[in-house]
Amino acid sequence: MSDLATQFQQLSTLLHRTRGDWQRIPFACRELPWPELAPALEALDEAQLDALDEDEEAALAFLAPLRPDTVAAHRVHPPELQRSADYATPRWSSGIPGRKWAQIKDFAANIPAEHPILEWCAGKGHLGRLLAQQGAPSVTSLEWDAELCQQGEQVASQLQLEHHFVCADALSTDAASLFRPEQQALALHACGELHLRFLRHAAAAGTRQLALSPCCYHLIDGEHYRPLSAAGRRQDLQLSRHDLRLPLQQQVTGGERVRRLRHIELSWRLAFDELQRELRGCDQYLPLPSFAKQRLSGDFADFARWACAQKSLPAPDNLDGEHWLQRADARRLLVKRIELVRHRYRYLLELWLLQDRALYLEEQGYEVTLGTFTAQAHTPRRYLLLASRR
Ligand SMILES: C[S@@+](CC[C@H](N)C(=O)[O-])C[C@H]1O[C@@H](n2cnc3c(N)ncnc32)[C@H](O)[C@@H]1O
Repeated sequence: MSDLATQFQQLSTLLHRTRGDWQRIPFACRELPWPELAPALEALDEAQLDALDEDEEAALAFLAPLRPDTVAAHRVHPPELQRSADYATPRWSSGIPGRKWAQIKDFAANIPAEHPILEWCAGKGHLGRLLAQQGAPSVTSLEWDAELCQQGEQVASQLQLEHHFVCADALSTDAASLFRPEQQALALHACGELHLRFLRHAAAAGTRQLALSPCCYHLIDGEHYRPLSAAGRRQDLQLSRHDLRLPLQQQVTGGERVRRLRHIELSWRLAFDELQRELRGCDQYLPLPSFAKQRLSGDFADFARWACAQKSLPAPDNLDGEHWLQRADARRLLVKRIELVRHRYRYLLELWLLQDRALYLEEQGYEVTLGTFTAQAHTPRRYLLLASRR
């Protein structure tokens, strides 16, 4: 068994055993699901809960006596891969935000640029362009947004680079024909189904080298995740889309405004949940879709009327917003106590998903390295899978 397979088995065992901690919907809970954790969690007020949840190390230290195995599993860290020696910006990169440019430079530092390149879900093809400039024999960038393709083509022709765009849907069957054996295929921040297809197509074509930084694990076909690797299928965690969102729930410390909006959103969603349970006469959670932050700029009554319309519920004529918001207060604390535990599985679940992808590639005859390609400050989605055909 490879080291990776052993690590995956250990992690799978832990995640199976602790499913009750992370595989649940906090909004659906009416009470704390772990009576044994109640004394520690209920001793924390809202400010303490917020502060702990934003500080991963402090949160793990808090959880250590309560869930020692979960905290111990955080000691496994994929290694740091190559980083760019500098983040100097050529003139053509002027419109690219600094953090995005750093990601592109760091990703490129791991690519030898020896083979023709296929860049999957390329946007304007900044990464492909940089590699074309660094001597890649040719670069093909797949992107479905025609405007992005056109802008990318324009810069490529100004710079006289062997860089061309294919404007097509990565999920179409034709897209598979873009993969070749003598090729280096790249995907920087390709969402769920898009990067799953990338891996399957590349393995089927026998593409020599692959580099993938996955994101948005929940954007998949179907309601449940089907593990890619045989080991993953044996240890299937039965992940729903809701579970797959967990690795993305990083607390972005975005300052006071972001914190305030998050507080309002949580309160309003919970107040609506209280209201809908009463309107339907049914004590069950009813999920609301995501919405633009603008919706939080009015008052709760307006929001509740919008939410009722979303769920085809008749909004009451005299909607007493204060009443429902008060009922939400106690539940907000409950949700935060549950999240404080649940969030301590974000990293472990992401690692499991990455290892499933890595094991799939091993099974397909690749030598695989999993590591981080850029600093946390540049992006929380900083894992990179590098694979070479054996
Ligand atoms: C998160 S962006 C990443 C862009 C680029 N790789 C980067 O990191 O800057 C994802 C890109 O995938 C493209 N995309 C989304 N769905 C697609 C599809 N079905 N076919 C082709 N491209 C798609 C989007 O238009 C977007 O440019």
